[in-house]
Amino acid sequence: MPLAAPDVEYLKTVIAERSGNVISSNQDYLLESRLSPVAKTMGLDNVEKLVAELRRRPASQLHDRVAEAMTINETSFFRDIAPFDAMRTDILPELIRRRASSKSLSIWCGASSSGQEPYTIAMLIREHFNELAGWNVRILATDISDEMVKRTQDGLYSQFEVNRGLPAPMLIRHFERKGTQWQAKPELRRMIDAKKLNLTTPWPAIAQFDIVFLRNVLIYFDTTAKSKILTRIHKSLRPDGYLFLGGGETLITLNVPFVRESVGKTVCFRPVTA
Ligand SMILES: C[S@@+](CC[C@H](N)C(=O)[O-])C[C@H]1O[C@@H](n2cnc3c(N)ncnc32)[C@H](O)[C@@H]1O
Repeated sequence: MPLAAPDVEYLKTVIAERSGNVISSNQDYLLESRLSPVAKTMGLDNVEKLVAELRRRPASQLHDRVAEAMTINETSFFRDIAPFDAMRTDILPELIRRRASSKSLSIWCGASSSGQEPYTIAMLIREHFNELAGWNVRILATDISDEMVKRTQDGLYSQFEVNRGLPAPMLIRHFERKGTQWQAKPELRRMIDAKKLNLTTPWPAIAQFDIVFLRNVLIYFDTTAKSKILTRIHKSLRPDGYLFLGGGETLITLNVPFVRESVGKTVCFRPVTA
């Protein structure tokens, strides 16, 4: 039996409050399929019982788990390759010149899912920028999902996942076999600091970044949440830093202090300073 309309609305409210993700009516079917496993792990027969349990409790970790279970984690290595090409040809050479005295570079992948995006950046640096060997290079990877953060820390991928976008010679150079899976070599894993972070709640004053990847996540938020997140990202980005959004994402309707700039075959967004 389908979920009753008040239960559907209640779940959507919980999800929006906890993760900012807006579930549209054509995605209602996902509530049942994604939340049944959560109900089962709680020893509950079905999603209806899960809703009753959620209603019974004040805001709890169970509410967070429900929100996390509804996130879309689609990602791949070298996804929409143009930003990585632009980093190689333009952005990293420029930043290496600008940061020559501090010898430090920091990159943040907000909403990094299972880690293919930060690992792509780490491989790019190792393959093309030997001169960064003595630098303090930090790649912070964050996501709202505990499971995705753990996957990034482990750097462990199935054959199917590595077949999606990772060229075979790079797989051999940077990964080692672990049974039927492939694990990023320790030197690659050490480059990435993976942490849980919810973009919709104010985050602690983390250091400022030279490059922020915030790709394919704003689509899940409403306009107010998008503007708040981007205003905070602005504060977390150095004045000469670079922001990358997903291929189909734009800031056109949002009143946020960034300007669009072409770089190589892609576009990025640069912070406007007062
Ligand atoms: C479609 S994936 C994008 C992954 C990667 N950036 C890419 O473009 O391939 C979206 C990710 O956003 C995360 N996410 C959704 N809501 C979030 C929130 N409020 N805070 C942080 N991450 C969130 C999801 O858990 C998911 O892993």
